[in-house]
Amino acid sequence: MAKIKRLGVLTSGGDAPGMNAAIRGVTRTAIYYGLEVTGIRHGYHGMINKHFVNMKAHSVSDILARGGTILKTSRSKEFMEPEGRRQAYENLKEAGIDAVVVIGGDGTLTGARVFCDEYYDIPFVGIPGTIDNDIYGTDYTIGYDTALNTVVEAVDKIRDTAGSHNRLFFIEVMGRDAGFIALKSGIACGAEAILIPEVLDQVKNLKDYLEKGFKRKKSSNIVIVAEGDESGGAFAIAESVKEDFLDYDVRVSVLGHIQRGGTPSAYDRVSASKLGFAAVEALMDDQKSVMVGFHNTELDLVPFRKVIKLKKKVDPEEMQMVEILSV
Ligand code: F6P
Repeated sequence: MAKIKRLGVLTSGGDAPGMNAAIRGVTRTAIYYGLEVTGIRHGYHGMINKHFVNMKAHSVSDILARGGTILKTSRSKEFMEPEGRRQAYENLKEAGIDAVVVIGGDGTLTGARVFCDEYYDIPFVGIPGTIDNDIYGTDYTIGYDTALNTVVEAVDKIRDTAGSHNRLFFIEVMGRDAGFIALKSGIACGAEAILIPEVLDQVKNLKDYLEKGFKRKKSSNIVIVAEGDESGGAFAIAESVKEDFLDYDVRVSVLGHIQRGGTPSAYDRVSASKLGFAAVEALMDDQKSVMVGFHNTELDLVPFRKVIKLKKKVDPEEMQMVEILSV
């Protein structure tokens, strides 16, 4: 068994509902194994600036239902520089932190990987936390389920008003580099079309589709646009469509940061708790530079190397299904 005495835990990057359940899982599992726990506030920025707080079992009481992250978060530019990482390493050593669990998305796990390549003696284990669900090596990331439900609720409401006015709505959802939220919410809400960054040249098809729908006097059309789509987002694509379809009454709705907030779903709470528990168990088993994730509902360990290098793919069959179902 590894000789870890004090474990650090942090959240970094965009917050996600369920991160608190993961912090609780990590903290209480570590205490169960007799470890001391340090909360590192404000992500890597806090590691560089010694934002350290001692965590006890009660420090994570009553947080399961809270959105956001009690440890706060940041996107640290300093940690991308060798000097920042050196300072972080010295601070961890000085505080007696022997191992770290990081909770976050792609940037967070990339930072962890680079750090671990430079400094071997402080093992890091990662937990995937981002509403985008765009992390290779895990079917699920913390916050995705809650965000998806938030989007679905919003789109259903927009559908009511779209139908009443015979309008075409472009609804922009989060996903700078990935279309998972757009695709799954689009399926759940019966969107007429979905534009995502992973699929290029969709605009021509979209216009053909709208043309057909217009002739059939479809009462409403909902197009879900991932913010990172090549069309430039919902406003840009709406402008281009307006020019071609003068008779369409077009509206745009950008859902924005409401997608990141709110009380986490039961699914996010349970999965985040399991990942927090598994991350500490992995460290106790001498694992390092790995992410804990889910593969076909089973917990799994994936090396940072793979997580960073490989890109999670959307299912092309699901995209095709959307076309078939939205006649
Ligand atoms: O956390 C991921 C994410 O929500 C992306 O989907 C989005 O592009 C980005 O964060 C927004 O980041 P910020 O809150 O810094 O504007």
